[in-house]
Amino acid sequence: MNILVVGSGGREHALAWKFSESPNVDKVYCYPGNGGILGSDISSIELKNEETLADAAIHYNIDLTVIGPEKYLCDGIVDEFREKKLKIFGPDKKAAQLEGSKWFAKEFMNRYAIPTAKAEVFTDESSAIDYVKKHGTPVVVKADGLAAGKGVTVAFTNQEAIKAVRHCFSGAFGDAGYEVVIEDYLDGEEASILAFVDHDTIKPLASSQDHKRLNDNDKGPNTGGMGAYSPAPVVDDEMWRRIDESVLQPFLHGCQTEKLDYRGIIYAGIMITSTGPKVLEFNVRFGDPETQAVLYRLKSDLAQAMLMTIDNKLVEYEFEWEDQSAVCVVLVSGGYPGNYEKGHQIFGIEDAEQVGVKVFHAGTRQESEYLSNSGGRVLGVTAKGNSLKDAVDEVYKGVEKITWTGMYYRKDIATGAL
Ligand code: AMP
Ligand code: GLY
Repeated sequence: MNILVVGSGGREHALAWKFSESPNVDKVYCYPGNGGILGSDISSIELKNEETLADAAIHYNIDLTVIGPEKYLCDGIVDEFREKKLKIFGPDKKAAQLEGSKWFAKEFMNRYAIPTAKAEVFTDESSAIDYVKKHGTPVVVKADGLAAGKGVTVAFTNQEAIKAVRHCFSGAFGDAGYEVVIEDYLDGEEASILAFVDHDTIKPLASSQDHKRLNDNDKGPNTGGMGAYSPAPVVDDEMWRRIDESVLQPFLHGCQTEKLDYRGIIYAGIMITSTGPKVLEFNVRFGDPETQAVLYRLKSDLAQAMLMTIDNKLVEYEFEWEDQSAVCVVLVSGGYPGNYEKGHQIFGIEDAEQVGVKVFHAGTRQESEYLSNSGGRVLGVTAKGNSLKDAVDEVYKGVEKITWTGMYYRKDIATGAL
């Protein structure tokens, strides 16, 4: 079987790596990939003029395509693949609106009584500002559409909230920002719940938690994610039961009722509040960096799980997990998530791997003589341990071997859960 992974981040490297470990997989391709994904086990594909990824999938005899970034899904890549009778793992364009529009997702949650923050939607700046003044803070201001993880502001003062509203309507996020959702602030601990879903069944993967803020102790600006660990101790058996009952099953029921063609993965960002789990957002794809930690613990064959999901046979599939914990620490370029310098030589990856960690590549580039940093999030160093504490100790042994000019990382990944 040949597999194509679409995307270029650490998440895609983890997916491609997991596939490449399977005896049932002949060849793994990644498009566009990055400097470190492509190598002996994972190949690149080239698109000829005007060729779409679906055309290329035919041409390269791809049996299964897996999409990393939401943009492809929201643009309808699944619809095109399915029209061409190609197997692809993910929701179709309509179902992808669960991530593509915060208001679409909010109305869906309200229709199926999935617990979430109360919210209003605005299409003009002055009504949104009036609402902020009347409602007061804290409040969360969200650009409705895809904004590359930059569209959400948790505002603790009216001034911050109004600034965020103005930012959206100024065109900072293009069309994605001309509708603004303002929702109540929820307090608690966050967890990421990823679940496979087909037309009949929803089955969760192991729990995880990521760290969105740039600096230790959850300070500084939001990022794409600075690290993750799995399992998340905050999701104990009782919490799993509540999440299944109040989020996962109603989600499946909603997809069935609305005849959404959802055969892929759903990622629910959950806030565990004092009154129970509430959904902050849906993503219609794997999380990054949660995937690195979660897949590092998966014993079962991922490709088989996906093919069975596409064939609506998820009910027959059982995921098996290692008992160990996994931790992923993301190494970023100095200055990220703002402007950062690129092109510095990266040292120490092999030394880190000798310590026993797995290094997933994100923003790396293969120069003629060396590997350099070419993006904000550069590497995801991932390790396992018999306890979360052991995994943390292991992962930082690996992290310490790696360096480049300006490299930065958080030193407290998973330590809050210890
Ligand atoms: P989202 O993309 O909607 O998940 O928002 C990104 C991050 O903003 C979340 O992971 C939370 O940390 C935070 N956030 C979003 N919505 C809320 C909310 N209603 N209350 C508190 N924090 C929130
Ligand atoms: N780690 C957050 C995300 O993938 O959206």
